[in-house]
Amino acid sequence: MPAVDPMETFRASLKRCLAAPDFLLDFYGLFMASSDEVREKFKDTDFKRQTRVLADSLWVMSVAAQGQAGSPAWGDLPRLAERHSRSDLDIRPGLYDQWLECLLEAARKHDPEFSPELETAWRETLAVGIEYLRSRY
Ligand code: HEM
Repeated sequence: MPAVDPMETFRASLKRCLAAPDFLLDFYGLFMASSDEVREKFKDTDFKRQTRVLADSLWVMSVAAQGQAGSPAWGDLPRLAERHSRSDLDIRPGLYDQWLECLLEAARKHDPEFSPELETAWRETLAVGIEYLRSRY
């Protein structure tokens, strides 16, 4: 098989997932079912808005994975990190593993082409942004 850029693989898969109307709602369902702590954080959330902004931020995360930290390609990530930090939403770094596993479970369900290679592409692409948010806690 020719070498494929993991980021392109991720984007193609994300596109298939987002074409499924329930992808992000399923993700939030899984994520909230994963612990009381997560459920508590989202108790006042408008999920119609939240699913839209998450979809956008997943694209931003894939762009960030390509560029240098702090470059214009990082767009909204500094603000997103500030929003999740201890001074605002107070999302402790340990919660990101749970977040990623639930997102992958939803992707597995909604992307008909999902495979172990695709899973690696998701993990590799999102690792950069996740690490950044964690480091700014
Ligand atoms: C890298 C992973 C994550 C991404 C890309 C992400 C993305 C986002 C985005 C785009 C928003 C909306 C910010 C705004 O108001 O403009 C948001 C809000 C939020 N996120 Fe995250 N998030 C991530 C991880 C997490 C984790 C691990 C938690 C843990 C519970 C979490 C909990 C929340 C909560 C509670 C809100 C506020 C929802 C509301 O407005 O009611 N996020 N997130």
